[in-house]
Amino acid sequence: MDRNLGREFVRITEAAALSSAEWMGRGDEKEADRAAVDAMRKAFDSVRIDGTVVIGEERDEAPMLYIGEKVGQRTEDAPAVDIALDPLEGTTICATGGVGAIAVIAVAERGKFLHAPDTYMEKIACGPAARGLIDLDLSPSENIHRVAKALKKTINEVTVVILDRPRHAALIAEVRELGARIHLIGDGDVSASVASAWPESGIDLLMGIGGAPEGVISAAAMQCLGGDFQGRLKFRNEEEKARAGRMGIKDLNKKYRIDDLAAGSVMFCATGVTDGPLLKGVKTLPGRQAKTHSLVMRSQTGTIRSIEAHHHLGKKGF
Ligand code: FBP
Repeated sequence: MDRNLGREFVRITEAAALSSAEWMGRGDEKEADRAAVDAMRKAFDSVRIDGTVVIGEERDEAPMLYIGEKVGQRTEDAPAVDIALDPLEGTTICATGGVGAIAVIAVAERGKFLHAPDTYMEKIACGPAARGLIDLDLSPSENIHRVAKALKKTINEVTVVILDRPRHAALIAEVRELGARIHLIGDGDVSASVASAWPESGIDLLMGIGGAPEGVISAAAMQCLGGDFQGRLKFRNEEEKARAGRMGIKDLNKKYRIDDLAAGSVMFCATGVTDGPLLKGVKTLPGRQAKTHSLVMRSQTGTIRSIEAHHHLGKKGF
């Protein structure tokens, strides 16, 4: 994949972040999400790719950026790529002015992302030091022991990030009983996965159940960072199982390793909407100007670019 595409993709997440940030803290999740989707969809039109959305909005619920939608200029010489996107990861975070909402897309060569249904996924993620050591088939305690050993930390120096949900009561109890630290988050497990592989984030491991589409996007990021990720689909009802079947998932209990979720040459691009552990949020400046902070990463080289951009909103048609 052409490395210069990274610069094009960052314009797309910047556009989504700038638009959704206008709804920051205004208590309207739907409008914040709609603004991000509209801006992201429009920004794709200027990128020379032949793209297919494989992780996106559900077609019956969204007019744009739905799974299967074709995006990009799609000229004859445009590279064929699959796209996993979340125009606003953390809609509630944005609507409440909380911590760590991002606009995100991941791009891979055609056929290299799992076409994950919109259900839940049990997840585990860690940084490069423990790559190959974590395993969803092991207990949380055993996984924490392995990560602690790889990081040369004591158990009580290990920090696990977990979504604050009632379904995680047993997991949280086990981690506390073991003596590891827990960072509970309200939303946004893509940022949290990335944080587990991000130097100096203070997070060593992500555990628990979150959205399956977010799992694929997180796996793409972990491929770029050299970390590890595993996931297993968790269905809420028979309808979700049937939908997964229709999407080609045969083994409903399969443990997906990182390469099953995102393989080959992958790019990951995110722009902060609200301030978070990885990215600063959109800063509004006087005179219809704004500043954004983005990350662009490539699995092929492992390069991580941090991009701060100064935007003149009037000149961009905002
Ligand atoms: P949205 O941006 O779609 O609101 O997702 C936020 C999120 O917290 C994800 O990061 C996470 O994977 C999922 O929701 C968890 O789902 P739930 O809120 O149903 O527990």
